[in-house]
Amino acid sequence: MLITFEGIDGSGKSTQIELLQQYLRDKSYEVQVFREPGGTDVSEMIRGMLLNPEIEIDPVTELLLFSSARSQLVAEKLLPLLKKDVVVILDRFFDSTTAYQGFGRKSMPIEEIKQINEIATHNLTPDVTFYLRLSLEEAAERTKRFEKDRMELSGDSFFKRVFDGFEQIAKTEERFKTIDAGQGVQEIHEEIVSNLENRLL
Ligand code: TMP
Repeated sequence: MLITFEGIDGSGKSTQIELLQQYLRDKSYEVQVFREPGGTDVSEMIRGMLLNPEIEIDPVTELLLFSSARSQLVAEKLLPLLKKDVVVILDRFFDSTTAYQGFGRKSMPIEEIKQINEIATHNLTPDVTFYLRLSLEEAAERTKRFEKDRMELSGDSFFKRVFDGFEQIAKTEERFKTIDAGQGVQEIHEEIVSNLENRLL
């Protein structure tokens, strides 16, 4: 089973992934967690380039680099693990490319981004995607003390388009479960678990 988490920076994905991973392990599931971009040697090297605030990257190059990192992760890790019935949790997947590179950067028309996503994922689609929805104001408040990476330095109007992008995807994708990320950590966790209960048994 493939579970993905999406949302703007600061929406609390990492905390929820940690809690879910623990919950599933306590229930004796074999679980593996990866972050995107990352999760393999090649993908982590690409991540280093993508997030480095000291280099400039052309928008189409950026789109292809995120996609290359993803293709390597899918081929090297995700497909073999899913074949062995391991539960895989991903901190971001191709919906982030649609939201950030498609809606945010406008690197290419959304239809073309979809085609690139299909290639990069080797046609792998999540069983369920938890979209942690947080207002831009609250996200900015939560992340203001952290040093910003290259993506996070992209400006307010970029992040507004990314937010709107996730909202659009949430409206059209049945697998998207939208969760109010302004709630308490435990409340969010319980909502996620109750959503998964029928799927896991
Ligand atoms: P992270 O901070 O959640 O680990 O993600 C790294 C950054 O990369 C984050 O700002 C979102 C961005 N990103 C994209 O722009 N496109 C993508 O396809 C992915 C996976 C992440």
